[in-house]
Amino acid sequence: MPFFPFDLNSAAKDPYYAGFVAAVDTRKVMLDVPDDSLERISVGKLAVLPIPQPDAWLVGFIDRVVCKAQYVAGPSDDSEAVGGKDNQGQLMPMLTQGNAVTITLVGAIQRQTNSGGKIGYRFTRSLISVPDVHASCFVLREKALETFMGLLAKAGDTEHALAVGHYTLDPTATAYLDGDRFFQRHAALLGSTGSGKSWTVATILERAARLPSANLIVLDLHGEYGQLGYARQLRVPGPDDLDSPAPGLLFLPYWLMNAEELIAMFVDSGEFTAHNQAMVLQREVEKGKRLFIEQQAKKDILPALTVDSPVPFALEDVIATIAELNSEMTQGARGLKQGDFHGQFGRFLARVDRKLKDKRYGFLFQTPKALHSYDAFHALARQLLDFAEDNARIKVIDFSEVPTDALPIMLGIVARLVYYLQFWMPKEKRHPVALICDEAHIYLPRDGTNPNEKRAIACFEKVAKEGRKYGVSLVIVSQRPSDVNDTILSQCNNVVALRLTNAADQAVVNRLMPESLTALLEMLPILDVGEALVVGDAVLLPSRIRMNPPTEKPISATIDFWTEWSAPDKKPDWELAAENMRRQRRRSS
Ligand SMILES: Nc1ncnc2c1ncn2[C@@H]1O[C@H](COP(=O)(O)OP(=O)(O)OP(=O)(O)O)[C@@H](O)[C@H]1O
Ligand SMILES: [Mg+2]
Repeated sequence: MPFFPFDLNSAAKDPYYAGFVAAVDTRKVMLDVPDDSLERISVGKLAVLPIPQPDAWLVGFIDRVVCKAQYVAGPSDDSEAVGGKDNQGQLMPMLTQGNAVTITLVGAIQRQTNSGGKIGYRFTRSLISVPDVHASCFVLREKALETFMGLLAKAGDTEHALAVGHYTLDPTATAYLDGDRFFQRHAALLGSTGSGKSWTVATILERAARLPSANLIVLDLHGEYGQLGYARQLRVPGPDDLDSPAPGLLFLPYWLMNAEELIAMFVDSGEFTAHNQAMVLQREVEKGKRLFIEQQAKKDILPALTVDSPVPFALEDVIATIAELNSEMTQGARGLKQGDFHGQFGRFLARVDRKLKDKRYGFLFQTPKALHSYDAFHALARQLLDFAEDNARIKVIDFSEVPTDALPIMLGIVARLVYYLQFWMPKEKRHPVALICDEAHIYLPRDGTNPNEKRAIACFEKVAKEGRKYGVSLVIVSQRPSDVNDTILSQCNNVVALRLTNAADQAVVNRLMPESLTALLEMLPILDVGEALVVGDAVLLPSRIRMNPPTEKPISATIDFWTEWSAPDKKPDWELAAENMRRQRRRSS
């Protein structure tokens, strides 16, 4: 029994008949469609064409229907005597009669016999052949559509299947992503605000949490994922937490910063003496680190030690030395004279002092004593990457109380640590980890101008470019893809595009999509909430998928203004808000 029950001998009478092939291009087919087939055809539907192999079919999306009209698309096409160009600039002939329908081919169905002699079918993304001119084309609907979607679902339902929702074309068919491929070469989850990104993240997390050795880190900027029961909650401490450090707090002691990050934090590149400040700071930090390692008698570390090594050092000693240099007087031939660096660090020292005392930066500079020990780095690596303990498979790091100017540096440090810890893990012991970067446009901007942003972008670019080899994956989530750094986004091989209304953002998604799927892209602004267009090697077919809502929802519910305003007796606590703003901590009483 053939895969589709279409009548190839008297195709025109078949209830699924669409038309016959009038022109063929490498990926596009134009059909001549009789009037009575038109009602079955609409843009976005799937169609199949037989190819000269037993029971083999090409599959494509209908992307244009022109009724009894000349097929001329572009405004400048008048010069073409016998045809026009489609929107890829490819020449298509003009029909003298009939209706023109264009189809973008996306894959093929082939019959195969397994080792037991059983006949099965397989869908592949490669176009094994092009259809013959005059070949018949059939629209996939009802039973035939179910058969095809069943094939997709079955093929997707593998050991590494990640069930995310259902196909819009056939709501009974479960849509799977290939979990291996989705994370292997980074993914982007894009959509306007309120389109369902955070919910989709939660759906994926929920699935991943069921795997015994999953390892995902969510960079949570708004505390949206703070209540997911299956996740380990880590929080970068606010000013309020410094005196009573609790276990869920993630301090990032200053000695984790590399030279460039320290410079971005303390040196104002606009100052005349910035160069000297940077040079002396690096020299003294390296000295401090060397001293620490010598005191610990870790001989095997000394030869490789640089200013960038993740080794504790006494910042107060570095500052004291720099303060001395700033006021140093040396003996000259004619009495005392000012030292080489005299007066060069005035503003630097004031800036450092301000940052060190600022409680908002407490998670860096006012960390518990234990975090300045040799083993503190081991504990931190475990805190960030371990997945063996209860609820440690998904780690949510809440950055909502980190001051905005320090945010890029802190996120950059986390990305850099994760990357290098994976990098230095012996290959046979390496275990893959994914970083979910929610609201990426905030800290990975397209043109990061300030030094902090530049540092963060450099760290994430490194992961985007090299992470695949060391088992570090990025999932870039953003409501403004046009504002996200291009290099990082262009490394994402899978795109989950939810509703996107802005033309600039749509253009970014267009660039990320490997195939010329114009018809699908045009759906971006009209997708429903929670509905996505998924393209990439994690799906067998570029598809429109309605995402499953997660069981445990993120705290991101859209506020119903009118309803809230309609409720009587509302009593917001202004004093509490004012106090919270002062203490930089969102307490509830
Ligand atoms: N798969 C879904 N099914 C049904 N409703 C959904 C789905 N996803 C999201 N929603 C609805 O849309 C609302 C907004 O979703 P979500 O918070 O995920 O948006 P977002 O894209 O993350 O927005 P933002 O960019 O502002 O963070 C949810 O509160 C929920 O009501
Ligand atoms: Mg969100």
